[in-house]
Amino acid sequence: MNTAARYWVIVPAAGSGTRFASEIPKQYTSLAGATVLQHALRPLFLHPKLHTVVIVLAPNDSYFAGLKIARHGTQLDCVDGGNSRAESVLNALKFLQGKAKQNDFVLVHDAARPCLRAAEIDDLLAACEDEAVGAILALPMNDTVKRVTDHKIVETVDRTMLWRAVTPQMFRFGVLFDAVTEALKVNYEITDEASAVERAGLSVNIVEADASNIKITRQQDVSIAESLLSLE
Ligand code: CTP
Ligand code: MG
Repeated sequence: MNTAARYWVIVPAAGSGTRFASEIPKQYTSLAGATVLQHALRPLFLHPKLHTVVIVLAPNDSYFAGLKIARHGTQLDCVDGGNSRAESVLNALKFLQGKAKQNDFVLVHDAARPCLRAAEIDDLLAACEDEAVGAILALPMNDTVKRVTDHKIVETVDRTMLWRAVTPQMFRFGVLFDAVTEALKVNYEITDEASAVERAGLSVNIVEADASNIKITRQQDVSIAESLLSLE
């Protein structure tokens, strides 16, 4: 069954970037000669195993059409986003329904993560090869972690079991479609794909990400990403 599995990609890019607070949405901010979205797409389009990328855009998006997108032969489709990241992802999953087989894989990667490296995609694909569910990239906590209320420390939390979930997150199509559909049906708040799959009672593997795989969230992240890209 695994030999025939294909790899589909969803890139949610329909957010409004509240925390980034700029007129131009953060996925269209320029850094190192291209937009954040173009940087996020590059390793996905360049990877030989990923054959279709579905980008989720805000229904009123006026920026994407003006971008030069180097697809390198990869199929590219666009769909409209929803009110939350999860709804945006579900719209893309619905678009893939009937195209992707239940056992195919789907990788979801944030448009706001411009520093993804090819080696991270390779590691994730390798970890999922014989997996019935999937895996996500994540980073261990390096700092001491505090639980805080009103700027006062309540306690120091044991960090040995804590990881930060990043993207891509990769699952069998059928598993992810059912998990996200069910979670949204009961208004369960999901901020990443794994939380929907966890809710379904399934076990999700962790693959260590590269520390450079940051998400552009606030303005100061732009210069950090620029420095990281210059190191590649
Ligand atoms: N996203 C989306 N549809 C939404 C909300 C978010 O496709 N309704 C996408 C964003 O464009 C981004 C990714 O999901 O690529 C991760 O979301 P986040 O970093 O939270 O971006 P925003 O929601 O745009 O930012 P904020 O939470 O600060 O408003
Ligand atoms: Mg958000």
